Amino acid sequence: MVDQVAIEKAKEHFGRLVKEQLDRVEQMKHSEGWTDYSKKKRIVIGIVGGDGIGPYICKHARTVLEHLLAEEISSGKVELRTIDGLTIENRVKLLKPIPPEILEELKRCDVILKGPTTTPKKGDPWPNIESANISMRRELDLFANVRPVRVPSQGIDWMFFRENTEGSYILGSRGLNVTDDLAFDFCVTTTQGSERIIRLAFEHAKKNRIGKVTVVTKANVIKVTDGKFLGMAERVSKDYPGIKWDDWFIDIMTAKLLDEARRHEFKVMVLPNLYGDIITDEAAQIQGGVGTAGSANIGTRYAMFEAIHGSAPRMVEEGRAKYADPSSIIKAAAMLLNHIGFTEESSRLEMALDICGQYERRLVITGRSNGATGEQFARYLMETLGDMDLEDRWKGYQGSK
Ligand code: IPM
Ligand code: MG
Repeated sequence: MVDQVAIEKAKEHFGRLVKEQLDRVEQMKHSEGWTDYSKKKRIVIGIVGGDGIGPYICKHARTVLEHLLAEEISSGKVELRTIDGLTIENRVKLLKPIPPEILEELKRCDVILKGPTTTPKKGDPWPNIESANISMRRELDLFANVRPVRVPSQGIDWMFFRENTEGSYILGSRGLNVTDDLAFDFCVTTTQGSERIIRLAFEHAKKNRIGKVTVVTKANVIKVTDGKFLGMAERVSKDYPGIKWDDWFIDIMTAKLLDEARRHEFKVMVLPNLYGDIITDEAAQIQGGVGTAGSANIGTRYAMFEAIHGSAPRMVEEGRAKYADPSSIIKAAAMLLNHIGFTEESSRLEMALDICGQYERRLVITGRSNGATGEQFARYLMETLGDMDLEDRWKGYQGSK
């Protein structure tokens, strides 16, 4: 028998979602321009430890920032502001992905460096609240998730532009059990949301003289939303006649990243939220593990930088938190420095990370007691950063591997 009441309820729910999304489209139409950090008297960097291994690895990223920005911090041009309390315990207490006063504090910063935060799922000991990441990305309108992956020895130099606010994520906590037997989730793609991420990818290619952008969808099956994303790529590409573009489906793209003969041909990739989530973990693994990859979440007003991995509560439970690799969050700190205009400092830090993590590897982190601790690695990195010949040392490795 058809459950008319359930159908009516579902329609109402859907109606509310449609209304909210239409309002969001209007907001996007009137969004402000990009922040010019060079014009700011003071740049506030919020540092959020998060939970699990978050505070352990964040501590090291902070030390690196304090070192590289020592002058600016003492002159007051830059402030590092600790924001405590974004822990799973606090979030669960309030049943909120981000406690409101913490969200207010975040909004008083310009950019944020964030340790991982635990994301519950059904069946976990925690109530199934929304992810703090997803909420922060939405609340601060951080629409671009920019994730670089490089393996110089194999010619891999990938830059992923993952759409960060829409797709399967935006209503991920607003799906509907219509009846006990029927569950719906929603996937949302907008003209404005697709255009801004695709344009950013093309702009990146143009600025860095990269002749190709790869658009990844599953538009042969997910015809409406992915179809819209792909259609937008075609439109945007017309504004960049010097840049070629190609489109791939996510399944074969996932395979191609493992194809050693072809994978270096990909450079800039732009893709909807969920595909971007999945493929960037795969890419990070190719680089040496998710512990090595940083991620920038960028919007016009705010930006947040983080490791791409989760909070690894098991490492904490098993007493292994001190062996967690801080490279990912330090890489995120390098991206942060670049974003706010400290390009020199950022590139020194990237070089030091390359030397310590990819080339010289005097210390290796395994996540266990047979490897170095995060502290030891951070010290090694700081020593390397302090080397007057850092650039020559880094150049020496180029081409040699
Ligand atoms: C990531 C993470 C998040 C995501 C989780 C923690 C919600 O996997 O940043 O890639 O799915 O986006
Ligand atoms: Mg992920």
